[in-house]
Formats: sequence, structure tokens, C-alpha cells
Amino acid sequence: MDLLKVIVVVLVAGVPQAISVASETEHHYVVYMGSHSLLDMESVVRANHEMVASVKDSSIEEARDAVLHHYSRSFRGFSAMLTQEQAQRLSGMESVVSVFESKMNRVHTTHSWDFLRLNTLNPSKQQLKQNNISDVIIGVIDSGFWPESESFSDEGLGPVPEKFKGECVAGEKFTSANCNRKVIGARFYHKGFEALAGPLNSQNQTFFLSARDQDGHGSHTASTISGNEVPNTNLYGLARGTARGGAPGARLAIYKACWFDSCADADLLAAYDDAISDGVDVLSLSLGPVPPQPSYFSDANSIGSFSAFRKGIVASLSAGNSFFPGTVTNAAPWILTVAASTIDREFDTNIYLGNFKIIKGYSLNPLEMDDSYGLILGETVAAPGVPAFNASFCYDNSLNPASVKGKIVVCKLNSLLESRREKAMTVNNAGGVGMILIDAVGVDVSLQFMIPVTVIDPVVEIELRAYMEMTKYPVARIVQTVAVLKSERAPMMAGFSSKGPNTQTPDIIKPDITAPGVNILAAWSPVSTLNTAGRPLDYNIISGTSMSCPHVSAVAAILKSVHPTWSPAAIKSAIMTTATVMDNTARHIGTHPNGTQATPFDYGSGHINPLAALDPGLLYDFNVTDVIDFLCGTGAVPKQLRNLTGSLISCPTHVAPPTNFNYPSMGVSNLTGTLTVSRTVTYCGQGPTMYKAYITKPPGVSVSVYPPQLRFNKAGEKMGFRVVLRAREKSNGFVFGSLVWGNGIHRVRSPIAVQVVST
Ligand SMILES: *[C@@H]1O[C@H](CO)[C@@H](O)[C@H](O)[C@H]1NC(C)=O
Ligand SMILES: *[C@@H]1O[C@H](CO)[C@@H](O)[C@H](O)[C@H]1NC(C)=O
Ligand SMILES: *[C@@H]1O[C@H](CO)[C@@H](O)[C@H](O)[C@H]1NC(C)=O
Ligand SMILES: *[C@@H]1O[C@H](CO)[C@@H](O)[C@H](O)[C@H]1NC(C)=O
Ligand SMILES: *[C@@H]1O[C@H](CO)[C@@H](O)[C@H](O)[C@H]1NC(C)=O
Ligand SMILES: *[C@@H]1O[C@H](CO)[C@@H](O)[C@H](O)[C@H]1NC(C)=O
Ligand SMILES: *[C@@H]1O[C@H](CO)[C@@H](O)[C@H](O)[C@H]1NC(C)=O
Repeated sequence: MDLLKVIVVVLVAGVPQAISVASETEHHYVVYMGSHSLLDMESVVRANHEMVASVKDSSIEEARDAVLHHYSRSFRGFSAMLTQEQAQRLSGMESVVSVFESKMNRVHTTHSWDFLRLNTLNPSKQQLKQNNISDVIIGVIDSGFWPESESFSDEGLGPVPEKFKGECVAGEKFTSANCNRKVIGARFYHKGFEALAGPLNSQNQTFFLSARDQDGHGSHTASTISGNEVPNTNLYGLARGTARGGAPGARLAIYKACWFDSCADADLLAAYDDAISDGVDVLSLSLGPVPPQPSYFSDANSIGSFSAFRKGIVASLSAGNSFFPGTVTNAAPWILTVAASTIDREFDTNIYLGNFKIIKGYSLNPLEMDDSYGLILGETVAAPGVPAFNASFCYDNSLNPASVKGKIVVCKLNSLLESRREKAMTVNNAGGVGMILIDAVGVDVSLQFMIPVTVIDPVVEIELRAYMEMTKYPVARIVQTVAVLKSERAPMMAGFSSKGPNTQTPDIIKPDITAPGVNILAAWSPVSTLNTAGRPLDYNIISGTSMSCPHVSAVAAILKSVHPTWSPAAIKSAIMTTATVMDNTARHIGTHPNGTQATPFDYGSGHINPLAALDPGLLYDFNVTDVIDFLCGTGAVPKQLRNLTGSLISCPTHVAPPTNFNYPSMGVSNLTGTLTVSRTVTYCGQGPTMYKAYITKPPGVSVSVYPPQLRFNKAGEKMGFRVVLRAREKSNGFVFGSLVWGNGIHRVRSPIAVQVVST
């Protein structure tokens, strides 16, 4: 399961830095030189080589070998193999903004294979008007795409928009004919990956040195955004439905920068550089750095997406799958940061106990168990000489075949890092017929195994154990998975979805929004069989914020088509202020599986509501200047700003507090006494109207809004207002409330998150 790999990376990430003392060792560095200057490509390349030659005291030839990427289209810079000392010398050069080591990012998926088939897309999206949508281009930076997938057919689409300046770069098993009127461009970047992980062909995995997707992830995300309608998709006969992207009329430009679920900073920046210059309208990235969020001034996604924001491009990125508070990544305010939640369908793989009780479990299990089998705890059937401790986790070779043969084994999880699949293999090797895995995380992501397996929550384990203790010969049957519609509350937050607060700028609530990211069906790469038990699949069901991000990217694309003049911030605002915090049972959104009430640090402004986002009523807009002012307010110094913008900018002498940044949600991380927060809204409706403020106070904080009513006459009018927060009692962490502007038709909602440091 890949969310585990994310954590493995966390554990090892700090180490190489610490031991990279040998100054002779070369690493791959990104040399960022800021805004674009109007040099032709050839002179840029020559200048880059000369710079590298000068710090290496080498020939131009040697420098040429050392340089892996040239960034020349949307911003300037290059990446090169350098020693630490050479990197330092470069960073001292006047034209150089910053030099940082290229690090590895991870795709934000949790693989959960399937033979089932379901229509996972939010049906409301299919009703959206998509008149100008065929002019909208979404850049997807991921693992490429599978060109033969029916999802990428261009049937019914008109000519490629003239504004597109991209290319369809040929490569291994990929020609320019593999692009069409849907996938209008395709490029790939691998040098950054190889510099960090070694040659692609040493990875012992199938790959294509081209935009052809070997991982499946890129095909899945791209088809979720804009996949063609593919009716009657049917996997193993278990379910039927139509697979389709959220904005099937929109165009895709594919930038492959991820290999085997890892994506190097240097490759990502090359992809941003091209995509921005190619003319995409929306960028979608289902990947991110290892948490916690790095400084915005030295993080590839922060810098790349800032360049996009500046060019009017919406950047929608996944929040990450790191479970814990404070792990949200891609958290810069100019990014639309997406969390993951469930849809109104789940995959139940239930356990029928001998006492006729049914225990609810989760997985994707197509295998039928013909009968009930004996039920045993792993710890009671340890192989000779193996501690019961080991057997309780069903570690490799820990089970005694004599006792396990023909039984269903209950196994536990010792750490999130463990492979669930290996445990199933251990049970299978010992002759077991099935496994019940106790795993609070696995219940979220519908895993697939070679034998009948179901995953249950530790809370339910008590019920299972009670039965096993009461009965001399406990028996059970794991049944085939059924897709259950509207079985329970939806949406619910996925437990794995990365959570706030935002560790870099705690006054900005992150994530921003949540969207479907659990058990999502979309196109796949048939060569990606590592997690499908060797079965080649054209469509697959997987989970992660990787899957929710493209849903939001699709909605951003639709908004862009309906409101072509809206800024990225306006599109973000429309999506955020129209989101809902209620579920289909009219309760506040809960967290899967036990329903604990979720907060804005789980879902941001709430669950995406695409139809409402088309007509939000009011907008909270902001531009690059506002972002710079915000960063100044957080204490950013010109050198840091230069890292981001590429030019030397000084902060205004009188900086506004960061809490006044015109963000569509309101965070105050340090409230002492009374604080006034100001905002400006832009009216985007028609005709005269009046909006009234409705407040839900955070506990222990009193809130008043001035003026309490806003009158508008015509679209484009701006009105300022102030929110006065008075601390009544010290809070234990953040407390939450909301401000809603309503005119009887529209509800423009902003969550409020406040930490009261003192009254
Ligand atoms: C390479 O892959 C094959 C087949 O998957 C496997 O048997 C072999 O052990 C792998 N080798 C290495 C070095 O990982
Ligand atoms: C600019 O970026 C470089 C490279 O990541 C980093 O080392 C440096 O600290 C940053 N400068 C500032 C002032 O943040
Ligand atoms: C039990 O598991 C531990 C790891 O937790 C391992 O180091 C040890 O070798 C195992 N013992 C046996 C007898 O398999
Ligand atoms: C389509 O785009 C044009 C200009 O780009 C705009 O004037 C028109 O209103 C748009 N139509 C719809 C239905 O959004
Ligand atoms: C629900 O689950 C969360 C996270 O696993 C846990 O912190 C919380 O205590 C649980 N609540 C209940 C009522 O079981
Ligand atoms: C950015 O927005 C501010 C208002 O928030 C405005 O004063 C300023 O002129 C805008 N700057 C640009 C470059 O549009
Ligand atoms: C909160 O603000 C007060 C003054 O406004 C300051 O002294 C204090 O250091 C701040 N605390 C934190 C945690 O930022």
C-alpha cells in the first residue's frame, strides 16, 4: 500500500542530508534564476553551461554533461550535478536566486485494487453546463497516460485550441500520433529521478521512456479530470456503470514527471516551466513533498505553482495522505489544497460469525468462500520457536501450518509500515483460507488480496473477540464484497487525508476543500500489475488525495470555462465558499469510520459543491501583490521573496497583518484579546441585492461583523467588512466557527479557526 511508502520516505528522509558530508559527492541541485528574461533558448543553454563550467573549473563539455534540465520558458534556471561547494558558489552569483537540492516527491495515492466496478463520479458534475469547456486545457503533472484507454478517445471534440503551444513528444512505445484532440500534448522528464534514484532501467520495473504511463496513477488522475464517457465498464462482472471525467469536454496536456510513484523536484519544475508556457488553464498535481510542508521559499511545488498563479493558472494539488495533524502539504495560499473524503458507496466485505452475527469489514474481495471455517487468532498458532508476538502480526513464517490449515486467521498490524499483502501471503503459505486484518487505516482504502481478506476497525475487534471467547469452536465466513449504495453517512473524511494546521502559515486554514478520494474508479495502465496480483486492468479503483485533487481540478476547469475572466483566487473562492459541511444525513461531516465530527483542519471549507460554485454570489479575490503583502506580514524578508518571485522585492514599510489577507477562509493562530480581521468581497451576481452576515461563534470567542449587511447594485462592486474577534477564554488548540453571507439565495461561507492564546 502506497500510503505506507510515504511514511517510509519520512523515516529515511532526514538521514542522507545528515551524512552527506563528503563535499566531493555530487548531488542534483536546482539552480533557480527567477523571472523569465527574453533570451533565446540557445543563449540560455550556453549561459547555463558557462556558469557551471566556472564553478566546476571545467570545460564547457564537462559542464554540459553535468546540466540535466534547462528552465527557460516560464522562469529561468537549470538543474545540475554539483558538489555542495559548487552549489554554494553558484548561489553566491548575482543572477542566481536560489540553489536547492532536488528532493523526491511522492504521488498521493493508496493503491486499492479492484475487480468491482462502480460509477464513482459525483453525478452532479455531469449536469454542469460545459459550453466553453473545450477551450480549457488542464495540465496534469503525473506519471503519464495510457493512450489506448477509451477514456482518452477524442470522439466529438473539435480542433485543438489555437492558444496551445505544447508538443506531443515521441519516445518509447509512444509517437506523436498517440496524442489527439483530447490529449493535446505530452512531455516527459526523467533526469531528476535518475539523479536521485539511479537509472530507470535499474529499478527492476517495467517503464517507458516516454509519456506512456507505467504506473497507472497518471492515467487515473487524468481520466478523472477529463476522461471520455465510457459506458458499461464492467470489471469481473461484479458491477456495471459509466466511467467519465468531471469535465469530459476539456483538453489534457500530460507532463510525465513521476516514475514508480516518485517525482523529483527538478523534473517537476521542468514540467511546471513547460506547462505554464504551453498555455494550460489549470494545473493538477496529485503528489507532494514529505511532510511537514517545507518553507514556501525553497519548495518546488510552492515555487512552480506561484509562477502558475502569476500567469492566471489555477493550481490544484493534493493535501497528502499522512493521517496526522499538521501534515498537510502543498499548503501555500496560492494553491488549492485538496483533502479526501468518501462517496455514498462503499465496499463491504462482511464476516458471518457462527452465532449468526455479522461483522462489517472492508476490502475488495471477489472470491467466494463456500462455507464457514474455523476462526483463530494469529497469536495462538505460532510456529514452533516463534514468539506469539510475531504470530499475532502474522509475520513471515510465524504461523504453524498444522494449526492454520483450513482456518481463517485474525492478524494485527504492528505499525503502519507493514505490508498487509505479506500478511495475507503468510496466512496463505501456512494453508489458511482467509484473513481478518485489524487495521484502522486499511478500512478506508479497500485493499485487494489473493485470498479472501477483510479489514476491520479495532473498535469492531472487541465484538469479534467476544464471540471467539464465548465459543469453543468459533467459525466464520468471509463473504464476497458488495458495493453498498447510500449505506451510511457520506461524505465522511478519509482517515488518511492529511490534516491542518498549516505549519508554515498557521493563519491560513489548510486544506482548502475536500472531494471524493476513496475508492475511485478511473482509467489504468494495464502494465501496472504490481498491486493487482498480476492482473492487467484497464480500469481500477484506488484511494488517496491523489484521487480527490483531480475532481477539484475538473471543477476549476468548468469554472474557468464559464467565467473565463476570473482569477485563480476567484475560482478558488467560488469553490471554497460554496462548499458544504453537512452530509447526506443532514449531520456535520464526520470522519470515517467512527463518525467523529470533522473540522476545517480536515476538510477546509467543506465538501465541494460544483453546481453552487458556478454561481457563488460573492468572491474573495486576491492577486500577486496581495500574496506578497501577506508574506511580508508573516515576516518574510526580501531574500525569501526573491526565492519565490525571482525578483528583489521589498516589503511595504507598513505591512498589514497576515490575518487581513483576503483569503476565503479565516484563520487566526494567535488571538490575544481582541482582533479585527478585514476582508473585501466582490459581487458577481446580477441586479441589486442585500447580503446579511450570519455568524457561528467559535466556543469562547465572541464575533461581530461590521457592517452586518452589504448592499450591492451590480456585478463587480466591491465591499469591505470587518470581523471583530474577542477572546473570552483561552482555547486548548484551535476552536472553530463560521461566517456566512446570505441573500436568501446564495450562501457564501467562510470557516473561522481561532487559537486563543490569552484573553
Ligand atoms: C526483479 O524482479 C523479478 C520479478 O519481479 C524478481 O524475481 C527479482 O527478484 C527482482 N530483482 C531484484 C534485484 O529486485
Ligand atoms: C532560498 O532558497 C534556498 C534554497 O532552497 C534556501 O537555502 C534559502 O534558505 C532560501 N533563502 C531564504 C532567505 O529563505
Ligand atoms: C520476531 O519478529 C522480530 C521482528 O519484530 C524479528 O526480529 C524476529 O526475528 C522474529 N522472531 C522469529 C523467531 O521469527
Ligand atoms: C464563452 O466564452 C466567451 C468568451 O471567452 C464568453 O463571452 C461567453 O460568455 C462564454 N459562454 C459561456 C456559456 O460560458
Ligand atoms: C474515533 O476514531 C478516532 C481516530 O481513530 C479516535 O481518535 C476517536 O477516539 C474515536 N472516537 C470514538 C468515539 O471511538
Ligand atoms: C491587487 O489587488 C489590490 C487590492 O487587493 C489592488 O490594490 C492592486 O492594484 C492589485 N494589483 C494588481 C497588480 O492587480
Ligand atoms: C502571539 O502574539 C503575541 C503578541 O501579539 C506575541 O507576544 C506571542 O509571541 C505570539 N505567540 C505566538 C505563539 O505566536
